Amino acid sequence: MTGDPIRRALDDVWYCVGESRSVRPGGMRAVSLGEEAVVVGREESGALFALRDRCPHRGMALSAGRIVDGNLVCPFHGWQFRPDGVCAAIPALARRDDANFASVRLARFAVEEKSGLIWVNAGQNPEAAPPIPEVDFAYSGQLVEILEVEASFDLVALSFVDPAHVAYVHDSWWWRPSKTMKEKVKHFAPSPFGFTMTSHTAKTASLAYRLLGSIPEVEIEFRLPGVRLERITAGEKRLANYTFASPLANGRTALINAMYWNISGLNLLKPLARPLMRQFLGQDRDVLQVAQRGLDRKPAMVLMGESDVQSQWYFSLKREFLRAREAGAAFVNPLEPRELRWRS
Ligand code: FES
Ligand SMILES: [Fe+2]
Repeated sequence: MTGDPIRRALDDVWYCVGESRSVRPGGMRAVSLGEEAVVVGREESGALFALRDRCPHRGMALSAGRIVDGNLVCPFHGWQFRPDGVCAAIPALARRDDANFASVRLARFAVEEKSGLIWVNAGQNPEAAPPIPEVDFAYSGQLVEILEVEASFDLVALSFVDPAHVAYVHDSWWWRPSKTMKEKVKHFAPSPFGFTMTSHTAKTASLAYRLLGSIPEVEIEFRLPGVRLERITAGEKRLANYTFASPLANGRTALINAMYWNISGLNLLKPLARPLMRQFLGQDRDVLQVAQRGLDRKPAMVLMGESDVQSQWYFSLKREFLRAREAGAAFVNPLEPRELRWRS
């Protein structure tokens, strides 16, 4: 870990911490947001809350306790906290004890639910953060896979905008039936907090595309902090392939892939698709973990040529985000429209 903020995951943005269905009404779950331990819970009404997962009394993880009558109960000495973080009771206090426990509070974090996923923002100004991704069509199916990677947030996020790794890392027969590399020409334009590869006709004959039945239009958007949104349209058929990075404790990163579709036949393929999705993400995880060990020895990268321009853009966007926050100013996208060529 270096002191340079450009090397750290941004701390005042939204990160995906899991699926909506992972937190049932009356239940809670511990999640990590970088080094911040968070307990995400759901009231019986369905409302979510996110609090620092650390009892102020002796530091116990509240996520190890229970929710009783709507309050979190610490498993160590039974202090109770309301979903807004305010201490509601200290069972050990005698009747004459006038200790003012209502002044004890847990830090509370912004939490939102979109398209079946839970997002938490531990910063002070969630309104200024890049918007949480949403699916813009009525989906009939959804598939989510989450992997832990022993690699930095940057290294995982860079893999979302790295066309040159695909031919080497993802060389499965079902993803790249043709082994030959061809020159690609792609058009990019700035979009809010990132850039978008403007819609074009997919020429690849990969299985995912063939399933759609007609020639699809593909649009790929990248936005801070580490959000890749691939949108595939073929007539009325829609497929969204979203990938996110979320920082975990000890320099680890969650790699999250969420797929959505409105194609009824695809639901039948879910049992087949899940292992393929896992294999695909596992290919990224395996290579990223080994590369991280190299970067641990020397944390420098040589970014070269047009296939690395998107990686340069990633750091430009991040630098501008940090600058704007430092200056208390609005984020101004530093990118210009550009055509990029590479072989992949
Ligand atoms: S540590 Fe939580 S009640 Fe004592
Ligand atoms: Fe990859």
